[in-house]
Amino acid sequence: MVRVIPHALLALSSVIGTTSAASHARASSQSCNKVQYHFPAGTGKNDPRAEAVKQAYVREWNEYYKYAFPQDDLEPLTHNGTDDLFGWGASVVDGIDTAVVMGLTDIVEKQLKHIAATDFTKSATIVNFFDINIRYIGGLLSAYDLIKSGEFPNPYDQDLVEMLLTQATRLAKAISPVFETATGLPAATMNFTSGEVIQSTTSVHGKSYNSTNTAQAGTLILRAQKAEEYLLKPSPAPAFPGLVGTELDTSTGQFITFDGGWEAGVDSFIEYLIKGYVYDRDDTYMQSMKDFWLVTAESTQEHIALSPYHHPELTFLSQLDEDGNIMWTMDDYACFAGGNLLLGGHYLDRPEITALGIKVADSCHRWYNATLTGLGPSSKDHSLYPCYSTVQHGAHQATGIGWYNASNQPYDPEYNNATYRAQGAKLGYFIEDPSYRSYPEPLESIFYAYRVTGDTRWQQYNWEIFNALDTARSKAVPYAEISDVNKPYGGTLINYVSSFYFAEVLKYLYLTFAEPDVVSLDKYVFNTECHPFTIKTPC
Ligand SMILES: *[C@@H]1O[C@H](CO)[C@@H](O)[C@H](O)[C@H]1NC(C)=O
Ligand SMILES: *[C@@H]1O[C@H](CO)[C@@H](O)[C@H](O)[C@H]1NC(C)=O
Ligand SMILES: *[C@@H]1O[C@H](CO)[C@@H](O)[C@H](O)[C@H]1NC(C)=O
Ligand SMILES: *[C@@H]1O[C@H](CO)[C@@H](O)[C@H](O)[C@H]1NC(C)=O
Ligand SMILES: *[C@@H]1O[C@H](CO)[C@@H](O)[C@H](O)[C@H]1NC(C)=O
Ligand SMILES: *[C@@H]1O[C@H](CO)[C@@H](O)[C@H](O)[C@H]1NC(C)=O
Repeated sequence: MVRVIPHALLALSSVIGTTSAASHARASSQSCNKVQYHFPAGTGKNDPRAEAVKQAYVREWNEYYKYAFPQDDLEPLTHNGTDDLFGWGASVVDGIDTAVVMGLTDIVEKQLKHIAATDFTKSATIVNFFDINIRYIGGLLSAYDLIKSGEFPNPYDQDLVEMLLTQATRLAKAISPVFETATGLPAATMNFTSGEVIQSTTSVHGKSYNSTNTAQAGTLILRAQKAEEYLLKPSPAPAFPGLVGTELDTSTGQFITFDGGWEAGVDSFIEYLIKGYVYDRDDTYMQSMKDFWLVTAESTQEHIALSPYHHPELTFLSQLDEDGNIMWTMDDYACFAGGNLLLGGHYLDRPEITALGIKVADSCHRWYNATLTGLGPSSKDHSLYPCYSTVQHGAHQATGIGWYNASNQPYDPEYNNATYRAQGAKLGYFIEDPSYRSYPEPLESIFYAYRVTGDTRWQQYNWEIFNALDTARSKAVPYAEISDVNKPYGGTLINYVSSFYFAEVLKYLYLTFAEPDVVSLDKYVFNTECHPFTIKTPC
């Protein structure tokens, strides 16, 4: 999940001005294919299910509004809220475009008023560039695009609607000093009171570096200086072509780890390689991103798309350790790969990539379907801010799941005991981290699989997940996060509702059941936080 998409970048680049927007080379139109299945008119939707998801948004918004507004996130067990995302009402800004799409005009009106009245250039805490980019700027620009599209109700005060753009530009300008590093690769954090840019550091094999995270840098179209070259011409070469590691040195632009894969830390970089191209395929820089994505996709198939011992029906994408070795583990974030491979495979007419996308989406669905609660294990080694602070590499930390390799061995001998062995034999994988933290990636890929194939089994899967969200935990606190997907009612409830529950979980679920031409994948491309932007060069 973790993710300024091109459009957002345009706002950033217009404020950063000098370096970014300048080179904008165009090439003649490249061929492409429509992504969505051709649903016959009037088919493909399921009104009662779409309505049920909409009511879930209303219920959770009302809880948030009553107990937590205008704080960032709701704490549902103690009936209060927390300012853990800089204190600007993250759930409002992250969630507004979902309410726009659902046609919840009374709620959107409250959200627009809050946004217009907020000073996004001040914060009591250190601010993180990545979350500002994907949640706040992404949410503001997407709400603006959708309201202005004419496809959704627009009874609002138009001055408030224009404030979405004004506030996005102010925020982009305020955070732009993070690009003032030796390479132009963004530093992670800033103090908005002092204006000080604060570098993250990463320690690898005992040596410390000023660093940025690949996913964080990769959520931008880095026309600035030579920054783009550091990502698209990686040095030193990754362990496998196109599968770059998670950390870059902001002083030299060198990669400092080889821990490639589709997991947190690299995820959004890979994601945007193809999404940038879908957004604007006539742009020569986006074309080089697409070429890199093809190398990544082919290398994924060849090297890290693996089936567990005696489970050929499953295909997981392994992450690599910091030295580039296969680990036979995968986190929940990497489950976005199914949808991303399906998007690119269809758009570029590459059936073998599409086929891999289906396999990965099916395998991630199994994470959910095989548990007691019907929800899947997440990943505990990445806290709310995966790119926020000092990262210690080296030790293997628990991730979502692991499996036994072709020699029936796990990467980490800790997973050799009878408990894990029994789980592996039964499910095809063992659960390293049993918590469920509202991560959206499997249901994101299921949404893509439905929209590109039209096969209603995918709709059924997302309906089962929606019901699991509702019934897995105590009725008093529906939708709380849980400690153990394999315990009745999910074990212990976690006192937190993330803003991405509004932005991602409920939007992907709703769009699975809405008319398929609502936010069509042929008209919109989503940022990594599920904020849709109007495609510049539709196919
Ligand atoms: C929320 O309420 C609980 C219980 O009253 C309290 O312990 C906690 O500190 C509160 N959280 C915040 C962020 O104020
Ligand atoms: C941010 O800068 C201000 C002004 O220099 C300082 O008072 C404050 O302690 C800093 N905040 C943090 C969290 O370091
Ligand atoms: C990190 O950057 C700061 C300046 O922003 C510099 O003083 C420091 O030496 C750098 N550290 C490393 C390990 O490169
Ligand atoms: C697993 O999938 C089957 C078939 O769709 C369904 O009947 C069953 O309820 C699902 N189990 C869980 C735990 O979601
Ligand atoms: C499986 O993992 C073990 C332990 O890391 C390793 O020694 C072995 O070579 C691996 N087998 C395969 C086929 O990759
Ligand atoms: C296997 O290890 C896990 C985690 O340390 C532990 O909870 C479990 O009880 C162990 N199983 C056996 C049979 O020792």
